[in-house]
Amino acid sequence: MRIRRCAVVFLEPREEVAFELDSLLTGGDGLRRTRRWLALAPHIGEEVELDAGERELLGRLSPGQWVEADSLGEGAAALQRLLAEGLVIAETDPADPVRARWRERDQLFRQVHWHPLGATLHAFTRWEGVDAVQNTRDSRTGTAVEMREVLGAPPVEAAARTDAGDRLALPRVAPNDFDRLLARRATCRNFDPSRRLPLQAFAQLMQRVFAAQAEVRVSDDTVFLKKNVPSGGGLHPMECYLLVQHVEGLAPGLYHYHAVEHALEPLPAPDRPLRELVMDIAARQHWFADAHVLVVLSPRFDRTFWKYRQHAKGYRVVALEGGHLSQTLYLSATEAGLGAFITGAINEKLVERTFGLDPISQGALALCGFGWRGTVMETAELDPAGEVWEREGD
Ligand SMILES: Cc1cc2nc3c(=O)[nH]c(=O)nc-3n(C[C@H](O)[C@H](O)[C@H](O)COP(=O)(O)O)c2cc1C
Repeated sequence: MRIRRCAVVFLEPREEVAFELDSLLTGGDGLRRTRRWLALAPHIGEEVELDAGERELLGRLSPGQWVEADSLGEGAAALQRLLAEGLVIAETDPADPVRARWRERDQLFRQVHWHPLGATLHAFTRWEGVDAVQNTRDSRTGTAVEMREVLGAPPVEAAARTDAGDRLALPRVAPNDFDRLLARRATCRNFDPSRRLPLQAFAQLMQRVFAAQAEVRVSDDTVFLKKNVPSGGGLHPMECYLLVQHVEGLAPGLYHYHAVEHALEPLPAPDRPLRELVMDIAARQHWFADAHVLVVLSPRFDRTFWKYRQHAKGYRVVALEGGHLSQTLYLSATEAGLGAFITGAINEKLVERTFGLDPISQGALALCGFGWRGTVMETAELDPAGEVWEREGD
């Protein structure tokens, strides 16, 4: 049997610190520190703890060149473990389905052309079962005042590089309609689920923000789209997966948006009530759970990395595109009298299972949403100038 190392793996010497009463009672600092070596391989997506022999063997194998397993001499037990965990790949499809599966995952990973660090960052920062609200409560950082208390003062709000007297003041320009639109944009955390969103309003937002506006056909199998947002290489990798809750004429459920056809593709119903699914995807941020429409921004990494192969900026470029889309969504929603939001605090692994996304080629980057704003501000929104909400005393 010929073998080689998986395409990408990083080794981390991790230290974990835990409280230990014994240590305190015997004059120590009350902390127990343990160190272990963890292998982080993005095609696996789970940490694998290694011992010294396994580490040594992994370091001897090429990710490109196949070698006879027998030629390695000692280390048979270590090799079996590395094969079982997917860090070493067997060339032939053996009867062993685990090895066959790892070979397939490693192969897919190679085909997507990830940059090693981008791949590792993405694979190991995905959440499962996180309750961001509880975490904030536990760390007592739920409000600005609490944050100041617990975290101390943040770095200054606007950086200065000269003395005040050396600054060149710019003219203040009188606001026009576009400025007034920008001023009314505020992250919405109070939706009114009792008021359904007209299909027309929903369709208009999708068309403005996510639809292809024109296309450049290079050949039958190579097409570039023009959209209302910029995109690295003009590749527009971002797919839109929707959780539709309260839209007239649309059955609540899961959909994929086809950007060229400007059409919804219904997907299988989730295995639990939609609002509960939304809560879990949004890491229990209840203030987003009543949004009329939620949109998972889901990049097809293989589309962007087709051009930007193993490119140091590839992952960054894709992440930036989420920002362009979300701002366009915010402004389009504001113009339509609706509220919008974006959150990065999402349980990506649940999103992947819900929509059938393979995290090697396609991911979940962020969750946006939009709909009618409620009339009562139950969760705080940032509106110091009273552009959206009436201020007390106004
Ligand atoms: C990338 C990104 C992630 C965000 N994640 C969250 C989030 O997890 N929860 C939340 O309530 N707001 C989230 N927000 C919204 C910000 O809190 C909000 O933009 C900020 O407080 C400024 O308020 P404004 O958008 O109303 O100007 C996020 C915004 C951005 C750009």
